[in-house]
Amino acid sequence: MKELLFSGVQPTNVPHIGNYIGALKQWAELQHKHRSLFCIVDLHAITVPQDPKKLRQNILDTAAVYLAVGLDPKRCAIYVQSEVPEHVELSWILGTIMKISELERMTQFKDKSKKRGENVGVGLFTYPALMAADILLYDTTLVPVGEDQMQHVELARTIARRFNSNFGDTFTVPQPLIQKVGARIMALDDPKVKMSKSGAPVSFISLTDEPDAILKKIMRAVTDSGKDVVYDTVKQPAISNLMTIYHHATGKNMKEIENEFTGKGYGDFKAALADAIIAMLAPIQTKLNEYKKDPTELGRILDAGRDAASKLAGEKMKIVRERVGLGRS
Ligand code: TYM
Repeated sequence: MKELLFSGVQPTNVPHIGNYIGALKQWAELQHKHRSLFCIVDLHAITVPQDPKKLRQNILDTAAVYLAVGLDPKRCAIYVQSEVPEHVELSWILGTIMKISELERMTQFKDKSKKRGENVGVGLFTYPALMAADILLYDTTLVPVGEDQMQHVELARTIARRFNSNFGDTFTVPQPLIQKVGARIMALDDPKVKMSKSGAPVSFISLTDEPDAILKKIMRAVTDSGKDVVYDTVKQPAISNLMTIYHHATGKNMKEIENEFTGKGYGDFKAALADAIIAMLAPIQTKLNEYKKDPTELGRILDAGRDAASKLAGEKMKIVRERVGLGRS
């Protein structure tokens, strides 16, 4: 079977190194192997309140981030979710066969709704139907994501199978693609929670953080009670998290990192880690500034991505409408 890759990031603020290590960095590698679609999922972003002006800016800035991390519009389609309305149409249809009990089990919904209390819109609850639609619309075979999105991809698989059994074979059942190391980067101030854009500024490093800020945040990062730089996610979760970041920034494996810091303390390790992150982000930041200065070129890339995605989505939705019996023949 020919592989097709689909993934997306929400255009809410600047992505952090968790998004980069867990998702964006892999995308840049995978685009060379498979046909790929990378979406800026603005309809997902509005499941919590957004400032409309900021959202529009964030959409363009996220497109610039996609390019800056190395996505090549000649190799993949880069587009904005709301510009291909078939996502919403399919999401509605899939929502009719998704069970309330399945949605209630979603960890992300439980976490986010606990934080927001009464202030939760229905969209936050039905979010996985939209995510399933994103994936199934293109007969996606591979979905590269961080670990936190695994449950949503699993539900997309269940829904694909259910739709196929109710209405006849229509959708490909996708596979999640999760890295062995780095699929869940933890917060710098608390290794028990994942790094998140909604955390305190000291808890994450954004892709646009200046060297000074990176150094400060890493030096302040929580460490474990031991003093050796040893990879052990159970006994030393904080240092293991920092080692995971170092691994991705330098390409060194855990043994090499342990050897490098034998007999040295956390302080030396943290200084080297800050340098490695600064070096990893420098070329991304340079490119990001260039792309941000050229909205015309960004617009051209997003138009071409939208056209390519629309063509595939339109063809698929014709089949889906017919299978479900919607409209007229
Ligand atoms: P989002 O925008 O929250 O995150 C984008 C990607 O970054 C990964 N990620 C992480 N990886 C490692 N460590 C972390 N701390 C970390 N935080 C985030 C996420 O797993 C994700 O891969 N619902 C999705 C976007 C989406 C999507 C899709 C993804 C919408 N439709 C279809 C794949 C396929 C989301 O909110 O990602």
